[in-house]
Amino acid sequence: MAILVAGGAGYIGSHMVKDLLANGEEVVVADNLSTGHRKAVDPRAKFYIGDIRDRAFLDQIFINEDIKAVVHFAAFSIVPESMSEPLKYFDNNTGGMITLLEAMRDFKVKYIVFSSTAATYGVPEHMPIKETDPQKPINPYGLSKLMMEHMMAWADSAYGVKFVALRYFNVAGAAPDGSIGEDHGPETHLVPIIMQVAQGKRAELSIFGDDYNTPDGTNVRDYVHVMDLADAHLLALKYLFAGNESNAFNLGSSTGFSNKQMLEAAREVTGKPIPAKMAPRRPGDPDSLVAASDKARNVLGWKPKYDDVHDIIATAWKWHESHPQGYNDRN
Ligand code: UFG
Repeated sequence: MAILVAGGAGYIGSHMVKDLLANGEEVVVADNLSTGHRKAVDPRAKFYIGDIRDRAFLDQIFINEDIKAVVHFAAFSIVPESMSEPLKYFDNNTGGMITLLEAMRDFKVKYIVFSSTAATYGVPEHMPIKETDPQKPINPYGLSKLMMEHMMAWADSAYGVKFVALRYFNVAGAAPDGSIGEDHGPETHLVPIIMQVAQGKRAELSIFGDDYNTPDGTNVRDYVHVMDLADAHLLALKYLFAGNESNAFNLGSSTGFSNKQMLEAAREVTGKPIPAKMAPRRPGDPDSLVAASDKARNVLGWKPKYDDVHDIIATAWKWHESHPQGYNDRN
C-alpha cells in the first residue's frame, strides 16, 4: 500500500517524498506543477500530474493505486499574496480540501496528515503559542487553512476520516545532501531571499519593518528544518495507523529569531557581507510567532535534529550554492 503525497513536487512535499522513501514506504505523488517542480520529485515515486480540485483526476489515482493514507501539501502559502488575492486561496486551498475529503470518503481512505500553519493563530495573546490557544487568523491564507482543519474535524465525525493537523512555523533549510531545496518563483521567503543576496543574485535584503513590538523591532519567527518537519509527518502517520484520535500539533523549535538575527546568522554561515536595508512593514505580519512544540515531542515522540538556525541556514546555503538557478525548469 502507498502513501499519496498531494503537492509532492513542492518545497516541503518533495522533502517528505524523500523521507518516506528512505523509510521504505511506497509513494504516489499528485501535483499540478503550478508552483512545484518535476525535478524535485524522486523518480522512485509514481507521479500523477493534475489538480486535486479535479475529482476525475483523484478518482483515477484512487482507482489505480492502493492508497493507505494521504499527506496533504497541495496549497498556496504566501501570506502577502493571500491579502491581495484572497479568493485564489479559498478556491485552491479550501476548495481542494473538499474534493480530496470527498474522494477519501468514497474510496474509504481513513487517514490524512495535513500541512496547517502558525498563521491560523493570527496575533497570539501569549508566547510560546500552544495548540489550545485561540485560532483567529489575520490573513486569508491562515483562514483558508483553519477552514481546512474544521472540515477535517467534521469529516472525521461524519465519515471517520482521521487526521493530524501539523501547524508549521517557519520552515527553512534543504536536504543535507544538497539534492533538493527551496525554489519558489517569485521568491518571497526570508531565508531563500537572504541566500540569493549572498549569491549576488539580488543586490540587498529589504527588512520589512523595524518598529514591531520585539527586542530589536524586527519580526520574530520560529525556524524549523524541512527534514525535521518531514520526520514529524512520518510520526503523525504512525500515530494514526496505531488507531489514535485526530489531533493537532505545533511544529517549531520553540526558539524565536528576529529578521535581523537571521541576517546576522546567514552572514556568519556564508561568510558573505549580505547588504540589507530597512523597508516598510509588509501587510499581514504578526510581531512574533514562536511555537510551544512540547506536545509533538511528548505525544508523537518528535525530536528535531536541527536546533540551531546556523545549521538550518547551512543546508539552505548548500542547496543554493550547488543550484544557483534552482531547478531551472521555468521558461
Ligand atoms: N521578510 C523580510 N524581507 C523579505 C522577506 C521576508 O523582512 O524579503 C520578513 C517578513 O516580513 C517576516 C519574516 O521575514 O517578518 C518571515 O517572512 P517569510 O515570508 O519568510 O515567512 P512568513 O512568516 O510570512 O510565513 C511563513 C510561511 C507561511 C506560514 C508562516 C507561519 O510562508 O506559510 O510562516 O509563521 F504561515
